[in-house]
Amino acid sequence: PETGSLSIVVLGASGDLAKKKTFPALFNLYRQGFLLPDEVCIFGYARTKITDDELRNRIRGYLVPGKDPSPEQLEDVSKFLHLIKYVSGSYDSEDGFYNLDKEISEHESLKQSAEGSSRRLFYLALPPSVYPSVCKMIKTCCMNKSHLGGWTRIVVEKPFGKDLESAEQLSTQIGELFKEPQIYRIDHYLGKELVQNMLVLRFANRLFMPLWNRDNIANVQIVFRENFGTEGRGGYFDQYGIIRDIIQNHLLQVFCLVAMEKPVSLKPEHIRDEKVKVLQSVLPIKDDEVVLGQYEGYRDDPTVPDHSNTPTFATVILRVHNERWEGVPFILKAGKALNSRKADIRIQFKDVPGDIFKCRKQGRNEFVIRLQPSEAMYMKLTVKQPGLEMETVQSELDLSYMQRYQGVSIPEAYERLILDTIRGDQQHFVRRDELKASWEIFTPLLHSIDRGEFKSIPYEPGSRGPPEADKLLLEKAGYVQTHGYIWIPPTL
Ligand code: BG6
Repeated sequence: PETGSLSIVVLGASGDLAKKKTFPALFNLYRQGFLLPDEVCIFGYARTKITDDELRNRIRGYLVPGKDPSPEQLEDVSKFLHLIKYVSGSYDSEDGFYNLDKEISEHESLKQSAEGSSRRLFYLALPPSVYPSVCKMIKTCCMNKSHLGGWTRIVVEKPFGKDLESAEQLSTQIGELFKEPQIYRIDHYLGKELVQNMLVLRFANRLFMPLWNRDNIANVQIVFRENFGTEGRGGYFDQYGIIRDIIQNHLLQVFCLVAMEKPVSLKPEHIRDEKVKVLQSVLPIKDDEVVLGQYEGYRDDPTVPDHSNTPTFATVILRVHNERWEGVPFILKAGKALNSRKADIRIQFKDVPGDIFKCRKQGRNEFVIRLQPSEAMYMKLTVKQPGLEMETVQSELDLSYMQRYQGVSIPEAYERLILDTIRGDQQHFVRRDELKASWEIFTPLLHSIDRGEFKSIPYEPGSRGPPEADKLLLEKAGYVQTHGYIWIPPTL
């Protein structure tokens, strides 16, 4: 592993993302020994003029979940907070950034061992409108200058633009300042345990290889549900909508891992090459394979315009034009204010040819990967109902993580991904051409929604979303519902 000073700069340090995700992830890395006190300094940067202690106090409450932290946890918290410094300044003036550079250099001269290099990581927990100016300032004022080597990397968060054109413009602006290996476009779904498991599952198991194609699979659903609305984020959300917020990034990344071909090796570039290829094989989305919804009450938020048509729910069918997937619908579905909170991948297999048990069955074989909560994989099978009669029943082979991996705590997505940025592993980050290909898929649809050509159907908060979406699934995607059976995550 690399040694030498490590400076982590969180820009937008007083914002929501920094408080709720970035700092807690850094804290967990610190606790596990990945951030060493004699190497690391964490800088918070934002416009507000506050002291180091004020920033520390703002973050403190977010570091340890639960109400009653143990004395050891409290000690860790206070040691961690001491690694944090605050620098205030604007996002477009050199003064603030030169100041930041001065502080970083001071830390480097204190911590640099003779052979150690200087590592500078800039985490932009900021709205994308300021990315170009912030990147320019970093490039002008804050690059690593050590003759001993090291690096400067930047981490950026979605939304990366609003459509193909704006995303490309942003990529060009950043690309003029930093090279691709220095840019980490984060999509936190790629840091989730079961998303990371996809490659292993698909390519390390003989069992799946012959089944994973159009001969056996009838349809694939990738579903994200939240049981709460856009609380407090209405103003941001209304400009983007559910497709830009969830589908074009999070669900499409999951789609890539389900649908892509086997990479040449596990090298990040090989994996990302395959993701780009499958994205490029997606056919244009058809208008009659889309259902949009908006929950009733969404517009009551004072920051949302009264006549907003922004979807808070969408079902979109993707069709992949290649040898493996021709004819298999991939249904990407996401919604806010629905009846439950969960995300899963559901692979439904075709009917058994010449099935002699057909009239007694509850449903088809399905392989379900539950991303969250209650991480699990289960395979729905028809088995003989135990007993004297020859009755069939739907059951499952179940790998529930909570049960199988007792005592193993599953790392937070951000924790893993930030560690990757320090280690220089870009496998779980979005490459520029990948981003472009993903916008190419959704931009025509997004533009027609923006022009008002697509209406969002109202749905009741706490429901399954507009019934038209279920209809689409049954009629256009050939989904067969299982009757009278529901998987319940096992408890300990
Ligand atoms: C974010 C979206 O990227 O992901 C939010 O902007 C959404 O709208 C969140 O709530 C969901 O993340 P997770 O990890 O809770 O599923």
